[in-house]
Amino acid sequence: MSRIIGHRGLAGEAPENTLAGIRLAAEHGLKWVEVDVTLSGDGTLVLFHDRRLNRTTNKKGRLKTLTCSDLATIDAGSWFSGQFSGEQIPQLGAALKLIKELGLGLNLELKTNGCSKSRLVEAVVKTLAEVELPNDRLLVSSFNYAALVRFSDCSDIPVGCLFERLPVNWHKKALRVNAVSIHLNSKRTAKRHISRVKSKGYELYCYTVNSPAVARQLIDDGVDGVFSDYPLADH
Ligand code: G3P
Ligand code: MG
Repeated sequence: MSRIIGHRGLAGEAPENTLAGIRLAAEHGLKWVEVDVTLSGDGTLVLFHDRRLNRTTNKKGRLKTLTCSDLATIDAGSWFSGQFSGEQIPQLGAALKLIKELGLGLNLELKTNGCSKSRLVEAVVKTLAEVELPNDRLLVSSFNYAALVRFSDCSDIPVGCLFERLPVNWHKKALRVNAVSIHLNSKRTAKRHISRVKSKGYELYCYTVNSPAVARQLIDDGVDGVFSDYPLADH
């Protein structure tokens, strides 16, 4: 990926996981974005981070109660700013189409959030195949290791292992899914973790870094790139 990856689109500048955020990331010159994907109640793939609608939309309740036709009735932009009023929860297909048009790279994070891992993986594999983004502009990751194993078993799209902090058995896990990268919480990444990961030949990315000074330090220490809510200066 690139040194700076727009987190949830560009979550500090636009409502997270929306098409507006993806567009803004491209306008700021970012080359890659990260978004979260999960299933709504009727099995529609949507970009969404939480289990509940409350924080990032004008509705309350669980995402898994929604169907595809509900999406158009929900405002996922006004909570952030009036400027984004009417922004919808995007379907994955629409986001992929836009990302392709904009020439961006995509880190797609699988969020199981209580939904069926097999249904999520099956739907993502099918949708990614339909859009035909080149593999060098795609990277699929997940905190849910079982979902990542399923994904890697049925796709040749590159995979990244996403951890809160580097676990003892990280290398065994990375080998099992043929991972190209390791993604860690920046606050729980020490220099010794960076050396371990880099010495085995993996790319290393840290989330979520909103300070240019912290981003610079991590990159100086050997991290390949950071997920940020802001474009930051150096990309
Ligand atoms: O993929 C990196 C980062 O997005 C993981 O945390 O909670 O923002 O999805 P979260
Ligand atoms: Mg994420």
